[in-house]
Amino acid sequence: MSEIHSMESHEAPESPARRSFIQIGLGAVGLGYAGIIGYPIYQYLSTPAQKAAAAGNVTSATLDGADKLPAKSVMMFKFGSEPAMLIHHADGSWVALGAVCSHLGCTVSFEADQNRIFCACHGGVYDPKTGDTVSGPPPKGLKKFKVEVTDGRITVSKA
Ligand code: FES
Repeated sequence: MSEIHSMESHEAPESPARRSFIQIGLGAVGLGYAGIIGYPIYQYLSTPAQKAAAAGNVTSATLDGADKLPAKSVMMFKFGSEPAMLIHHADGSWVALGAVCSHLGCTVSFEADQNRIFCACHGGVYDPKTGDTVSGPPPKGLKKFKVEVTDGRITVSKA
């Protein structure tokens, strides 16, 4: 008489609990990849709107210590999300202007020695007192802000 031996597998059949654990793990990895790929896309798409909202909501900026700015010099600051400049002129007057060129959006700079605001991108020149275009391709002047000096504090606000 011969005995029949059945071949038993040493591996247990996959249980439903193990299967769902693996599915949850794969789902979590998939969500992680979606986040890694999706977050930069979300940032890219949402940033212009957020910048516009940030710039639009800001009505004034207080510049602590700006009153100590020497004459014929400039202080760069952010008005909302946009660069701006506070100029202390040789005659003691204060002027605050946006620092975004109206041509293609480069950041302009104040050149005290030539008494001008210059855009190095395409050679645009602005008047440092009024922000009006003097020469070059900029189609219009720089943004103008109101400047108030009170008790050693300088506040710049929308004109
Ligand atoms: Fe300023 Fe073109 S971006 S002159």
